[in-house]
Amino acid sequence: MSARPHQPAIEIRGLHKSFGRIEVLKGIDLDVGHGEVVCVIGPSGSGKSTLLRCVNLLEEPTAGRIRVGGVEVTDPDVDIDTVRRGIGMVFQAFNLFPHLTVLDNLTVAQRRVLRRDRTGAERIAREHLARVGLLEKEAAYPAQLSGGQQQRVAIARSLSMAPQLMLFDEPTSSLDPELVGDVLAVMRGLAEDGMTMMVVTHEMTFARDVADRVVFMDGGGIVEQGPPAEVLSRPRHERTRSFLSRVLDPSHVAGPAAEAGQLIG
Ligand SMILES: Nc1ncnc2c1ncn2[C@@H]1O[C@H](COP(=O)(O)OP(=O)(O)O)[C@@H](O)[C@H]1O
Ligand SMILES: [Mg+2]
Repeated sequence: MSARPHQPAIEIRGLHKSFGRIEVLKGIDLDVGHGEVVCVIGPSGSGKSTLLRCVNLLEEPTAGRIRVGGVEVTDPDVDIDTVRRGIGMVFQAFNLFPHLTVLDNLTVAQRRVLRRDRTGAERIAREHLARVGLLEKEAAYPAQLSGGQQQRVAIARSLSMAPQLMLFDEPTSSLDPELVGDVLAVMRGLAEDGMTMMVVTHEMTFARDVADRVVFMDGGGIVEQGPPAEVLSRPRHERTRSFLSRVLDPSHVAGPAAEAGQLIG
């Protein structure tokens, strides 16, 4: 998957996805540049997860074309495993193997999929555990960790596979509020290091501070997109305004989103 210069990291054209007769994505066009951080926001059911899942082929698009690093992943002849290998994905649920230690969680795919030997895999695993601040937990089992620690392990596990881009689907939504910050800090660090990232999130402060671009989705389409200062503070569309007033209303959402209430008005 070598990239030519000036080619986007992700190129999505005319993407449609239906489940049975229900059309969930109704024609998405989106480019993500190398090193760009794109935050995807929008109401529940608007198709955000489906969009992310189409990028790494967890869902098969009904129509349209997706290129990742210049490789057309929607080509029927493409090797799906090779495509997925280059794309890290972190979900709301942490998805760690409960019967494996933290270190083994980080090495199992490196060894099986990338054919790294144990020593090499462990060295890389520890590099990424150190990066997420959890080197001292390498012998722990997932159940012995907090949700925030488990999510940081899940991020480190993805990074151990040397992905060319990372997809995050509401990575902090199932965390207790006091654990959210550590996970967002890791993601912020990744962004600063130039990782290409697509992040579905309701953390408006993170979107404002870290995103290069915010994409607002509603009803299976992109309603508007632009720099966070524009989309979050001066939305052009009524649907965006209405969504933001709901998520930014301190009486509905506490914590960081309430703080982001300063963005509007
Ligand atoms: N596997 C599926 N089968 C049927 N419908 C689905 C499936 N996955 C998602 N949907 C529907 O697609 C719509 C968009 O879902 P989703 O992409 O999860 O939205 P979001 O992440 O924005 O909340 C929802 O109406 C959801 O019920
Ligand atoms: Mg979702």
